[in-house]
Amino acid sequence: MRALVRIFLVCLWVSTARGHQFTEEEMQDVRQRIKGMFYHAYNSYLDNAFPYDELRPLTCDGQDTWGSFSLTLIDALDTLLVLGNHTEFQRVASLLQETVDFDIDINASVFETNIRVVGGLLSAHLLSGRAGVQLEPGWPCSGPLLRMAEDAARKLLPAFETPTGMPYGTVNLLRGVSPTETPVTCTAGVGTFILEFATLSRLTGNVTFEDTARRALRALWKTRSDIGLVGNHIDVVSQKWMAQDAGIGAGVDSYFEYLVKGAILLQDEELLHMFDAYYRALENYTRFDDWYLWVQMHKGTVSMPVFQSLEAFWPGLQTLLGNVDSAVRTFQNYYSVWRQFGGLPEFYSISQGYTVDKREGYPLRPELVESAMYLFKATADHTYLQLGLDALESVERIAKTPCGYASVSASLAEVG
Ligand SMILES: *[C@@H]1O[C@H](CO)[C@@H](O)[C@H](O)[C@H]1NC(C)=O
Ligand SMILES: *[C@@H]1O[C@H](CO)[C@@H](O)[C@H](O)[C@H]1NC(C)=O
Ligand SMILES: *[C@@H]1O[C@H](CO)[C@@H](O)[C@H](O)[C@H]1NC(C)=O
Ligand SMILES: *[C@@H]1O[C@H](CO)[C@@H](O)[C@H](O)[C@H]1NC(C)=O
Repeated sequence: MRALVRIFLVCLWVSTARGHQFTEEEMQDVRQRIKGMFYHAYNSYLDNAFPYDELRPLTCDGQDTWGSFSLTLIDALDTLLVLGNHTEFQRVASLLQETVDFDIDINASVFETNIRVVGGLLSAHLLSGRAGVQLEPGWPCSGPLLRMAEDAARKLLPAFETPTGMPYGTVNLLRGVSPTETPVTCTAGVGTFILEFATLSRLTGNVTFEDTARRALRALWKTRSDIGLVGNHIDVVSQKWMAQDAGIGAGVDSYFEYLVKGAILLQDEELLHMFDAYYRALENYTRFDDWYLWVQMHKGTVSMPVFQSLEAFWPGLQTLLGNVDSAVRTFQNYYSVWRQFGGLPEFYSISQGYTVDKREGYPLRPELVESAMYLFKATADHTYLQLGLDALESVERIAKTPCGYASVSASLAEVG
């Protein structure tokens, strides 16, 4: 009931706010603020944390988290180009080539290394063509960042050598998969490779990467339940589902995202067909009042009536598919939670209208803002710019430290 009241209030708010059109000057001003935020975080990382993976914004030092890759710098490369800083891009791209080595004795997440390292290097490689930086002859099929991406991806391939082709979750970059490694991988950990691996194959001419990602996708597709749903964790050797909650959030999210974005990037009917079938089943079994709940993958019965902040990518995906009306409704539900707390708690109980114990924090996730971006592109409605600006101001208020931006760990306080 509280949820319904809030939805109503948000609808009212949205319709009154629709009046405000941002002028070019206002947008210019916000762009400058965003650049200021980026450089606050970026320079803090370089000054206090490089060559570690991440900055610790409270103690103002660095630590390795997902490996030992200077991960934040890899992540920031494409942003430097988007912000037009070509000289800095060139400087740190060379620095990374000199310092990062993937021949290291590290147990790395196959999923995280792909999306962050391989993906970060590939997008920087491709964007560099538009950035006036000096390109190697043969670009985009040749270049130092492409070679680094291929190097990193090659280290992940041993994880896919399973009877099903679905990968283990962890691989040692030097030694391959440990004999004691668990065969249980989350769904997203199986189905989130096609964008990077197909891009790599098409740029390098080596089909191994794309074939590997497709084989995992096809194996996963075959394990869906009779009612068309997939669960949360699967044994990649036996194909047995070990966690049977079906939904669109943690553990699954980017599988659906990559089916759609893969279908678009590669103009691929097979990927779209897979997604369409999941979409019908998800709409049928998991959607209630434009929220998405978790259900048992075989029976379709509700197992967890919560909204997770990771799910906020979904309206963006619906927008990409042209389902703008559904996207707007679900986005308004999610944004009502943002407004209640001034940020998105990790888990939100839809029935109780409140955060879930121990899941109150906000680790600065970008999903809701990504959805707002797609909705703005689709509708040109400046309401979404206002939401972006509100998000920016929240982050400045609740997360900024002298040394960067920190996750908000507990108790997002209820506001307004
Ligand atoms: C690029 O980034 C560097 C490092 O933060 C900074 O010193 C320089 O002013 C930036 N240049 C532009 C054009 O923003
Ligand atoms: C990687 O994981 C294996 C298996 O759990 C373990 O034996 C090994 O010590 C780990 N290596 C590193 C560098 O952490
Ligand atoms: C493609 O890459 C894989 C993995 O590195 C390698 O084993 C294979 O020989 C390569 N194929 C070609 C044609 O170069
Ligand atoms: C929707 O769910 C009902 C059962 O609640 C089922 O009979 C029907 O086949 C489902 N349709 C689709 C497209 O999944």
